[in-house]
Amino acid sequence: WPWLLAALAFGYVLGSIPFGLIFTRLAGAGDIRQVGSGNIGATNVLRTGRKGIAAATLLADAAKGAVAVLAAGAMAGEPASLAAGLGAVLGHCFPVWLRFKGGKGVATTLGCLAAWSWPLGIAACLLWLLLAVLFRISSLSALLGLALTAALAWLLAIAPPWGHALSSLPLAVVVTITVALVWAMHHQNIARLLAGTEPRIGQSKKT
Ligand code: G3P
Repeated sequence: WPWLLAALAFGYVLGSIPFGLIFTRLAGAGDIRQVGSGNIGATNVLRTGRKGIAAATLLADAAKGAVAVLAAGAMAGEPASLAAGLGAVLGHCFPVWLRFKGGKGVATTLGCLAAWSWPLGIAACLLWLLLAVLFRISSLSALLGLALTAALAWLLAIAPPWGHALSSLPLAVVVTITVALVWAMHHQNIARLLAGTEPRIGQSKKT
């Protein structure tokens, strides 16, 4: 337990680095919290019209999740890597530095997934991209893609193809908790999706 708590805290600290806020400030694009949805993630950074900063935010937010998982896993094994990944997504969503008002956890979850299990990471990224091309709505593609990835984590844990351990029951549980957290962070997006008012990728919006 002390190791798991240490891994959770380590992940939280890494995850709480608000790259979207830092990059937009450094690029002179103002305070991202005053733009569009006010979210600090790559989707909202794209609403500033700065594609390069949006891409950098996506990569850095994913990388902090992956680094948390890989570092904790190397130091203390799979349970620590699971705790660190969950901590990183919690840190991104509730950063102490921003009075606990952070992002929605999609990119950081993608980074954790890739580091936890590369097949799950690839599946999540491909599903997200495919659904984004189909629907052109960032929140919808993330929510559906991650839900399908959680289902895949259970499938791979229960019936490992060719006997390979591509997932595990603890991983499937943690992926499900993480995806549930990401869904909860999107409650306003879900309300807009149901009302048919969620904007498409690149469109500006006010909440
Ligand atoms: O990753 C966040 C995305 O799914 C939605 O962001 O700014 O449209 O609320 P936003």
